[in-house]
Amino acid sequence: MYAIRLEYANGIAVVTLDLPNEPVNKVTAALRDDFALLFNHIEADPSVRGVVLMSGKADTWIAGADIDEFLTLRNASDAEALSRTGQALLARLEGLAIPVVAAIHGACLGGGLETALACRWRIATDHPKTVLALPEVQLGLLPGAGGTQRLPRLIGLQRALDVMLTGRNVRAKKAYQMGLVDELVHPSILREVAVTRARELADGTAKGEHEMKGRGATGALLEENPIGRAIVFRKAREGVMDKTHGHYPAPLAAIAAVQAGYQHGAEAGYREESRAFGELAASEVSRQLIFLFFATNALKKDPGVSFPAPQPADVRTLGVLGAGFMGAGIAAVAAQQDTSVRLKDTDVGRVGKGIAAVSEVVRERLKKKQITRLQYEDTMALVGGTSEYTGFGRADLVIEAVFEDLGLKQRVLQDVEPLLDPFAVYASNTSTIPISRIAEAAARPGRVLGMHFFSPVHKMPLLEVIVTPHTDRDATVTAVAYGKTLGKTVIVVNDSPGFYTTRALSAYMNEAGHLLDEGAEILEIDRALTAFGFPVGPVTLLDEVGIDVGGKVGLVLGEAFGHRMAPSASLRQVVESGRTGRKGRKGFYLYDEAGKRGAVDPGVLALLPSGAQRQSMAAEEIVERCVLSMVNEAALCLEEGVLRSARDGDVGAVFGIGFPPFRGGPFRYVDTVGARRIVEQLESLNGRFPGRFAPAAVLLDHARAQRRFYPAHGHPLPGQEGGR
Ligand code: 3HC
Ligand code: NAI
Repeated sequence: MYAIRLEYANGIAVVTLDLPNEPVNKVTAALRDDFALLFNHIEADPSVRGVVLMSGKADTWIAGADIDEFLTLRNASDAEALSRTGQALLARLEGLAIPVVAAIHGACLGGGLETALACRWRIATDHPKTVLALPEVQLGLLPGAGGTQRLPRLIGLQRALDVMLTGRNVRAKKAYQMGLVDELVHPSILREVAVTRARELADGTAKGEHEMKGRGATGALLEENPIGRAIVFRKAREGVMDKTHGHYPAPLAAIAAVQAGYQHGAEAGYREESRAFGELAASEVSRQLIFLFFATNALKKDPGVSFPAPQPADVRTLGVLGAGFMGAGIAAVAAQQDTSVRLKDTDVGRVGKGIAAVSEVVRERLKKKQITRLQYEDTMALVGGTSEYTGFGRADLVIEAVFEDLGLKQRVLQDVEPLLDPFAVYASNTSTIPISRIAEAAARPGRVLGMHFFSPVHKMPLLEVIVTPHTDRDATVTAVAYGKTLGKTVIVVNDSPGFYTTRALSAYMNEAGHLLDEGAEILEIDRALTAFGFPVGPVTLLDEVGIDVGGKVGLVLGEAFGHRMAPSASLRQVVESGRTGRKGRKGFYLYDEAGKRGAVDPGVLALLPSGAQRQSMAAEEIVERCVLSMVNEAALCLEEGVLRSARDGDVGAVFGIGFPPFRGGPFRYVDTVGARRIVEQLESLNGRFPGRFAPAAVLLDHARAQRRFYPAHGHPLPGQEGGR
């Protein structure tokens, strides 16, 4: 067999899955063939009384179906057939006359968890690497190898729906509490316990089926009768619609497959599951989400400079300048990765506030029981504060997060640079100011770059690293590698005002400002863009980011790019009024004392050039103007070399500024709509608003040559294929 090793221990077949030349086990065609051979073998050998399924990989049990294989599926019926094959194989596993024990260490995901569900008994190691999940919805799919039917039967309907619809990782201990695994053991005794259990199950001496623990009485009552279940299904659908606004068909399809099983029996459930799997696998949404999976994976391996890349330096000590909102956020994620942090602000009061903010972030994990009190204390012990530069001499990396002011940023750089090791890297977390301008103040401009984090730092997945023509390659590599250590997806962009993300976002938000100038309704603007798929509308976002911050960004970008980016009159006037948005409880919307958003503030309308008299505007017009502003700006960033690739532009927009994931990103959007159509729309808008929508040359080229940014078929990122 290709991917399976077989050993025997007193009548128990110990099967070790170990796909050659692959970092993880995944369900490839070869593994499916091996399983079929294994079952034949077991059925033909009466001396085998039980089976233990283990993994030969260090960190994964099985990572699910082979996502590369999905790219070879030509249509929905191919995908449906693939799901049927998986279901049949696992039905055979479930139906074996002898007991099969899943001995799980490492990630047990998607088709991997479905395999475990078809086993008689599941033992998991109590180890941080052991997580169980059905992440299919994150790829625009549903569990297609029986998961929609077996999971609810095992752990109850409501819990199963939660696991399936969120795709979240369930840690081993939690999995045990919810009945998803039957036993927890230390990794060192996994094999031994699994073999013993297989033997006991074969002999009929094992303890009884695992009792479902902790399932609330209400939950059980609701689930046990059709009326209760109908309520659960309805609530689940409503929850999905609230979150997704109907843009993601997969979670709804998963609910329907589970429901089919309850209403018409398991066979109907399996049929519905594979039918929906086929339909979803062929959908545009799934294609875009799978692209994002491959793009983020490719970025994990990208050192940030061309090959051969220098080695990154270890960042053991981090200096953070500015203990405000961002500085404290950065300090918190750094300390959680065991970096020793020196947090500096102008006076001890501010330093104290910063450390309290760090503690708040870390405490959140303690409250969720993701860390112990001891771990919390160890993490906090790594964070030291100073109003001088004490300890900065030891810093391998300094991240500056003081106020957004060029003069100040240059001054703090000059203050700290003489104290630093000559090889230390100096990063600014500015959101707009060109790094080259900051670096003008440096004696060693080669060590200076930008590390643009997003707020809240511990939740946002993106980091934009900005390099100037003078930045040393090893400094870039160090910043990129450290960003990955912090768990971020990192894109590297070349220096320019607003870099990539701030620039693309500003073009979009400013267009919303122009719509306001023309008298559009605030609510209509926000609604149109959330309906397009943005998490919040641009006016709400301005309130969130801070109208004052938006005003400063607008000035820098207006100065840099002239008429195209000149701030709208509405934005200018609201900025001048002193409103700051949610943080000041006064913005475009009303806020209560706790900061909860209410209706549009009637007071703000008087500040807009078109006054309180608003007029309705078609959602298509709003979407076209705002979205195409962003798309065109992204294309300009690509042709100017700010972006290294369309891939980085798409990942940056989705993970940094909320571009709808199911549309893949601005460049994927151009491919979907067609460059020619996009150019026609831009040209028509440019006729109405001269100079604001002149199409980027790269879009004109693509339209003329009918070229795409990504291949229409096969792997979206040629040269990055897995499956060695
Ligand atoms: N299919 C194809 N390739 C996979 C894969 C999968 N399911 N899981 C991981 N890989 C590849 C990655 O692309 C990467 O390849 P590369 O080295 O060529 O870039 C390599 O394995 C290592 O992966 P990571 O760098 O991500 O390694 P980590 O240790 O950081 O993470 C992991 C490991 C947690 C398993 C993570 O890779 C992961 O989350 N994988 C995807 C899991 C998933 O979505 N599974 C569901 C698939 S759909 C399904 O099962 C349908 C079924 O219901 C029918
Ligand atoms: P903030 O106002 O919360 O914090 C700034 C801190 O810098 C204050 O605590 C201030 O006392 C301190 N400071 C001022 N002068 C200093 C000096 N000489 N030495 C040390 N500390 C000094 O501001 P925030 O929001 O944290 O922003 C910081 C930087 O991060 C800005 O450049 C901003 O543009 C950028 N940024 C902000 C984002 C956000 O969402 N707030 C997102 C991404 C970047």
